[in-house]
Amino acid sequence: MTDIISSLSSAIQGRIEVQGDKSISHRAVMLGAIAQGTTTIDGFLASEDCLATVNAFRAMGVLIEGPFENRLVIHGVGKNGLEKPESFIDCGNSGTTMRLLSGLLSAQNFNSKLTGDASLRRRPMERVARPLRQMGAEIITHEGHPPLVIHNVPNLQGIAYQMPEASAQVKSCILLAGMYAVGETTVIEDGFTRDHTERMLTAFSYPIRKTENAITINALSECQGIDLKVPGDISSAAFFLVAATLIPQSDLWILNVGINPTRVGVIEILNRMGASIRISNKRLYGEEPVADLHIRSAALEGIEILPSLVPSAIDEFPIIFIAAACAKGETVLRGAKELRYKESDRIAAMVNGLQALGIKASALDDGVHIFGGQLQGGMVDSKHDHRIAMAFAIAGALTKEPVTIHHCDSIATSFPAFVPLAQTLGMSIREVNHGS
Ligand code: S3P
Repeated sequence: MTDIISSLSSAIQGRIEVQGDKSISHRAVMLGAIAQGTTTIDGFLASEDCLATVNAFRAMGVLIEGPFENRLVIHGVGKNGLEKPESFIDCGNSGTTMRLLSGLLSAQNFNSKLTGDASLRRRPMERVARPLRQMGAEIITHEGHPPLVIHNVPNLQGIAYQMPEASAQVKSCILLAGMYAVGETTVIEDGFTRDHTERMLTAFSYPIRKTENAITINALSECQGIDLKVPGDISSAAFFLVAATLIPQSDLWILNVGINPTRVGVIEILNRMGASIRISNKRLYGEEPVADLHIRSAALEGIEILPSLVPSAIDEFPIIFIAAACAKGETVLRGAKELRYKESDRIAAMVNGLQALGIKASALDDGVHIFGGQLQGGMVDSKHDHRIAMAFAIAGALTKEPVTIHHCDSIATSFPAFVPLAQTLGMSIREVNHGS
């Protein structure tokens, strides 16, 4: 069991990189495994979540070498080359692994079972099971939650599915199943969600058809192995965007960060609050846009966050709430009920933690209301949620008295280099290990 103790930090300056994008790393492994030929992934995020995906494909007979210095080499077995795993596939803490694999596995000619840790076993899975059943899959949830039991069926059928929730994981699950279904499979979105699966399919030469709010796929093609480079994860960069904004006299560059338009809500929200985050040196890593981010410290003001920005900042709200706690005035977020279904109930976990640190904050059914003030030291429970843990670690860098955050092992699921990277910037964030 690991706690973090975080204390006041002086200005952070210099040039850093964050680890590879989690969503993109998962998808690169999945498509690489079912591609024809070899795929090389540079900048792969070697975190627990992405390694759960790697291990799942190893269990299905795919030879994957590495990671060696963040390089992974996958010897693709082709779309129909996966083998029956000997036992349960353990997805650990990773919702992306479980939800995307449920689509792929529903179409295989073998039975499979997916499970995960205590947090994942509390998360909703009918959102993927329902559309997969419409396609003819046989998938059993445990009262709507993992474990998932998937039975082999002769053929999935293409469907047109209007998504009731904004979820890239659900969209991607259906698209992966659609790669095996008879006829066309179309996913229709009300708004938008991250589009890494669509971009990754294009990178692997698998044709899809896109209109403004729908994506269509069929079973007539194969993925072709490629060499690809994963951008830095904007969700990891977000912690340092806020740290550099709030710690006076900071001047930080974060290089090679993914700036996919479906992910940059955090930059827009912070800049609207008064931050100085500039995007430069825009370029592409394959189908994904990348840039360098320059952050200078700035005073923030509370805002009403537009619900339209929620999907593009969905994973960044824990750290955005820390920014709101340090801003002048009130910040209100609505339309973000999905936060209650993440690795923890992030609305409850953040409001409890902010209150413990002396900030006036209240939970709304679908958001929060935060009154900017003076963060104080204290103790916070991360609820075993990596992003809650890292958000409060940054909060500690802004307080006179230290902040202790309990249950921080989960940071290894998405950003194992978080603590050492903070330390290279001179921040006083350290881990304290207790026996388990
Ligand atoms: C992800 C999609 C989002 C996000 C999650 C990663 C993905 O979840 O919160 O961290 O890689 O597709 P939802 O699909 O549940 O919105």
